[in-house]
Amino acid sequence: KAKVKTTFFCQSCGSQYSKWQGQCTACKQWNTIVEEVIQKPEKNDWKSPSISASKRVAKPLRIKEIDGSADARLNMLDTEFNRVLGGGMVPGSLTLLGGEPGIGKSTLLLQIALKLPYKTLYVSGEESQKQIKMRAERIQPNSENCYILTETKTQNIFKQIEALEPDIVVVDSIQTLHSDYIESSAGSISQIKECTTELIKFAKETTTPVLLIGHITKDGNIAGPKILEHMVDTVLQFEGDRNHVFRILRANKNRFGSTNELGIYEMQGSGLREVSNPSEVLISEKDGELSGNAIAATLEGMRPLMIEVQALVSTAVYGTPQRSATGFNAKRLNMLLAVLEKRAGFKLGAKDVFLNITGGISVDDPAIDLAVVASILSSNEDEALQSDYCFAAEVGLSGEVRPVQRVEQRILEAEKLGFSTIFVSKYNKISLKNTQIKIQLISKVEDLVGFLV
Ligand code: TYD
Ligand code: MG
Repeated sequence: KAKVKTTFFCQSCGSQYSKWQGQCTACKQWNTIVEEVIQKPEKNDWKSPSISASKRVAKPLRIKEIDGSADARLNMLDTEFNRVLGGGMVPGSLTLLGGEPGIGKSTLLLQIALKLPYKTLYVSGEESQKQIKMRAERIQPNSENCYILTETKTQNIFKQIEALEPDIVVVDSIQTLHSDYIESSAGSISQIKECTTELIKFAKETTTPVLLIGHITKDGNIAGPKILEHMVDTVLQFEGDRNHVFRILRANKNRFGSTNELGIYEMQGSGLREVSNPSEVLISEKDGELSGNAIAATLEGMRPLMIEVQALVSTAVYGTPQRSATGFNAKRLNMLLAVLEKRAGFKLGAKDVFLNITGGISVDDPAIDLAVVASILSSNEDEALQSDYCFAAEVGLSGEVRPVQRVEQRILEAEKLGFSTIFVSKYNKISLKNTQIKIQLISKVEDLVGFLV
């Protein structure tokens, strides 16, 4: 019997060591290095070595000899998903869908698999066929071409793939897979690496696109998906607040498209609904005007997105005032509060400030700053802003209102949605003509005060 081979892996960053050490040299974390049993096989092709070896003899080619005509992308019949991928799935690509447990990854991919006209194999190591059927019954419609396999061993999966010859393969999830070529348990770094390598080989050799689900925890503790990110072609992230219905799909890495696009879904009783006009759903319906609410004209990727910011400013009950932000960077909130205090003379030092982006989504467009400031001022003065006002500007350290990119696109979106006035920086160059919406130019945060009703 061959001697058992082991290697040491950092569970945080995936670096490999020949012996144990207390601190990982690569990522500087302590006590993250764990021994894993591996056994290097002779050959670990997804098919028997003889077949694929004879078929694949790569030869060097001149650039002009290479067939450059792009293979047609697979239309996933889901507008949001297609957009984030950059126009559908590329043949032979491996796409990782990451996200926290329970966010809806299995629901999204099963739903897509059930709609596709291509022969689709959905492999699950997470749930039984019965459980998947129950989920599928909520989702509807059920395609004739979708096959469900519950299996975790890659060699068995490939056997089924050879028999079925699917056009597209979904694997849920990488953490449940294990390969016979490696002895450590499913979910370990060495298994994740090996199984992904086998899937990549399969995808490239057969030009079958593969969608792979990977879990990440809140603190990002599992290293698997981090290593995976380097191996796969595209990394999609599915995120949102589990207590809210909205889910956002974004590309963190995309070899075949931009990483700026965003997909929005709403979790319903019957699966995920594509949200094609996000601005309308993200602004809550309300009767009359409430203090502490302001609407920001943001951009996510190429799409304008109107989102609502809510602030609550109140006198601190305990000594140290509390500051908290949901969906917005807490450091940025503190910075904006300091600006209001120092530059505009608002006494916020002894106040509790809570900030919330409605819909449970998070944004990092700096153009949201002015709406944040407006909502804080509005709550602090307990005076509402007119509900048909919206804001698009960054706020600088001296309280200056700074220009943002593609301001005209934001203005047009606000106009389309019926806003009466948009507040932007005086320093933005705007050459729009014939707009119905009033473009209010301001240069300092204090200028906002006069607009509270
Ligand atoms: P799931 O896809 O299992 O999450 P993940 O694979 O990312 O762990 O989704 C989990 C949640 O979605 C679960 O709490 C139930 C809810 N859900 C719905 O609200 N509607 C539905 O139609 C389905 C299938 C799930
Ligand atoms: Mg799942």
